[in-house]
Amino acid sequence: VTNTANFIQGEVKARIDKWIANYPADQKKSATMPALRIVQECHHGYLTTDLMDQIAEYLEITPMEVYEVATFYGNYEHEPVGEIKLCVCNSISCMLRGRDEILAAIEKKIGIKPGEMTEDGRFSVKMVECLGACGGAPMMQVGKVYHENLTPENITDLLEEWS
Ligand code: FES
Repeated sequence: VTNTANFIQGEVKARIDKWIANYPADQKKSATMPALRIVQECHHGYLTTDLMDQIAEYLEITPMEVYEVATFYGNYEHEPVGEIKLCVCNSISCMLRGRDEILAAIEKKIGIKPGEMTEDGRFSVKMVECLGACGGAPMMQVGKVYHENLTPENITDLLEEWS
């Protein structure tokens, strides 16, 4: 287990401070979302209660205010995720156009289902709501990139390439 005491220091602190500087001194709270994003990025892609408490303390707000934001939006993770996070669209167009075959191909290739992570920590799979790329269904997002018109073949090739 990584020691995360005093996590908000050095580069993490500098990045959060830049956001805080955008707001009036009594409005540090406005930096909650960027602070969550930065801490998540710098902590292997996920948040813990301890980290959220540190954000609250740093922004001088209550832990509850931070938890509320962190659980309301789907882009914060509360469990460890893989270095490569496959966000597979779970909405209607993607479902109708073969999402299940894509999930089956992923499971066949790397042995994990949605909500799971490979033992080596390389990959995890997550179901997400429509990403607005329904014309390219079925699709998934990995990092900032949308991979559209997935087939069992092309997703297997991608996973091979990334392994
Ligand atoms: Fe999958 Fe819209 S339904 S991107």
